[in-house]
Amino acid sequence: MIGSDLLPRLSELIEWKEYSGVAIISDEQVVRFWGANLASALGGGGRLVVVPPGETSKCMGMVQHIWSELLAMGCDRKSLVLNLGGGMIGDLGGFAASTYMRGIDFVQIPTSLLSQVDASVGGKVGINACGIKNLAGVFQQPLAVIIDVDTLTTLPKREMRSGLAEVVKHGLIRDAPYLERICARSWEACGSSAWEEIILRSCEIKAEVVRADEREGGLRKILNFGHTVGHALEALFYQRGAGAEMLHGEAVAYGMFCEARLSHRVGLLSGSELDDIEDILRDLGLLVSMRGVSWTEILPLLKSDKKNIGGRVRWTLLRRIGEAVFDVELEDLLIEQTLRECFP
Ligand SMILES: NC(=O)c1ccc[n+]([C@@H]2O[C@H](COP(=O)([O-])OP(=O)(O)OC[C@H]3O[C@@H](n4cnc5c(N)ncnc54)[C@H](O)[C@@H]3O)[C@@H](O)[C@H]2O)c1
Ligand SMILES: [Zn+2]
Repeated sequence: MIGSDLLPRLSELIEWKEYSGVAIISDEQVVRFWGANLASALGGGGRLVVVPPGETSKCMGMVQHIWSELLAMGCDRKSLVLNLGGGMIGDLGGFAASTYMRGIDFVQIPTSLLSQVDASVGGKVGINACGIKNLAGVFQQPLAVIIDVDTLTTLPKREMRSGLAEVVKHGLIRDAPYLERICARSWEACGSSAWEEIILRSCEIKAEVVRADEREGGLRKILNFGHTVGHALEALFYQRGAGAEMLHGEAVAYGMFCEARLSHRVGLLSGSELDDIEDILRDLGLLVSMRGVSWTEILPLLKSDKKNIGGRVRWTLLRRIGEAVFDVELEDLLIEQTLRECFP
């Protein structure tokens, strides 16, 4: 469900009273803005489990904390979990719910743009472990996804931009006219009806692709555009630890910049479309500085990507704006040349 003013109407949207218990999982920042809304919508019928914000909470220790809180609340197999927050909470809370007593129902209530257009659709939940992002997880569809666009009013600008990168990706891989519509308006001036329209189209694109290939055997891989280099960047900053941080969308935006260049270099994408893509990413303010990142650090990280098969990187590239191809294997030299150019 996508719309405005949905949180206060939660009671009409899900039959939560049929459950023996309801737990709301959220982070400290989101709960400050939206926790009271949700709690009052449930008339005091839900119990809160609040974790610290940030990617470090998406870990096994926090899953155990959530399980023990659920136990302490007396949650049984007929209990319901509501995940109120960004992609971190959706992944963490979804994973905790999918594994608690072999899995209980959960509802995603995404509050960041990134989670509304991407993380909450597709049924992937999981945590980081052994120093690797999303190492452990399952495919488990939520009972429902409730997207209240009003929650975006409290989201910091940098986080909005991060989510916008996935919106741009959806246009690039599947829908050129959609991308044009996004570029034609100033996203900072968008009101709730404009956001409803944008989020709806992005969810449709992701759902269309996932429906065709839920387990990522083929078509779903087009959603990985920008994510091969993007994940390497995220892994690099994750390894660098405290103080160094890069948001998912920032990594993906730069990843799309590199992978569009690769697409051109192998003769798929035309030079003029490559220029258009670079202009779009710049105009929307999505390209952050990569000073201090060397191509020699990125290259080995590409090789350890979870999506590789037999140690070979499989790329998702663009044939044109609006059409992606997947499972492309490339010569090492070509990858190296492009990375040198993108991370001088
Ligand atoms: N499961 C999937 O398919 C999938 C897809 C993409 C990303 N992800 C995961 O999603 C996570 C990134 O998601 P994210 O960017 O939403 O990060 P996030 O959940 O960490 O949220 C980013 C920040 O915004 C704050 N926030 C969220 N909503 C807010 C609101 N309405 N008002 C004010 N502050 C708000 C959070 O407290 C946090 O500090 C990563 O862990 C990534 O791996 C999962
Ligand atoms: Zn992504």
